[in-house]
Amino acid sequence: MRFTDKIVVVTGGSQGIGRATAERMLDEGGSVAVLDADPARAQSWVSGRSDASRCAVFPCDLLDAASVDAAVAGVLERFGRIDALAQVAGGDTASADGLAEEHWLSTVDLNLHGPMRVIRACRAALVQSRGAIVLVGSVNGVAAYGEPAYAAAKAGLSLLARNLAVELGPRGVRINVVAPGTVLTRVWTERPGGADPVVKMYPLGRVGLPSDIAAAIAFLASDDAAWITGVTLPVDGGSLAGPLQLLGGPIWGEDG
Ligand SMILES: NC(=O)c1ccc[n+]([C@@H]2O[C@H](COP(=O)([O-])OP(=O)(O)OC[C@H]3O[C@@H](n4cnc5c(N)ncnc54)[C@H](O)[C@@H]3O)[C@@H](O)[C@H]2O)c1
Repeated sequence: MRFTDKIVVVTGGSQGIGRATAERMLDEGGSVAVLDADPARAQSWVSGRSDASRCAVFPCDLLDAASVDAAVAGVLERFGRIDALAQVAGGDTASADGLAEEHWLSTVDLNLHGPMRVIRACRAALVQSRGAIVLVGSVNGVAAYGEPAYAAAKAGLSLLARNLAVELGPRGVRINVVAPGTVLTRVWTERPGGADPVVKMYPLGRVGLPSDIAAAIAFLASDDAAWITGVTLPVDGGSLAGPLQLLGGPIWGEDG
């Protein structure tokens, strides 16, 4: 119950990793503001919970600074403070040419400028509460997994976090990034074959669940991580550890 009496903002909370994060925060006693471009989808799961009175949904488009500012103003009007921000909203769209102008601009706008807009809108409240920020990056922002615009934007979050860790640390605010590997959300379940083709990249033998990422976000947002700031934490079943698993089995025999 690490979030009892805490107000947590979760962007992208209508589904996937964001929803799992919002539910985890509620399960741990927090009050949660879900900011999402699809508020009706968020409201439909929130309404089904017995603790729905601790949760409020705010329409918010990360691509529009005025919309982000209005949503955060609504959170402060409703809850009066913000103790933690989980910036989850983001994602990628397929493009035949990863450097195509429109694709590049829209991908970086959503995955780098969008989080910056949310942080900027929440900054004063987080300084006041000496709060914590967790950004959702990706393993694509740590090593070459493809999709250059998405990768560059997600990598940008890590240096944004490191700079803000130095700037805001003296004022009591921590900021960290989680970098998920493949996670079973709509992005993968709606693909033909799902995530099966990439399981071999994961030494732990499976891809991730939204709850795996939510657990790491909750840790970094909580006082358990009170002396951790400026880091990017891969939550990736070991895929970034190295390519050995792709050789097809143990290289020193089953008995170790
Ligand atoms: N699923 C994966 O394998 C994976 C891996 C690494 C990183 N990530 C990252 O995790 C985050 C969540 O991914 P997911 O798989 O749960 O995605 P998802 O598509 O299931 O959910 C994304 C959420 O963000 C919201 N959203 C999208 N655009 C928005 C906007 N402009 N303004 C406000 N809200 C918006 C959507 O409505 C939705 O609720 C993303 O940042 C993604 O890049 C996902």
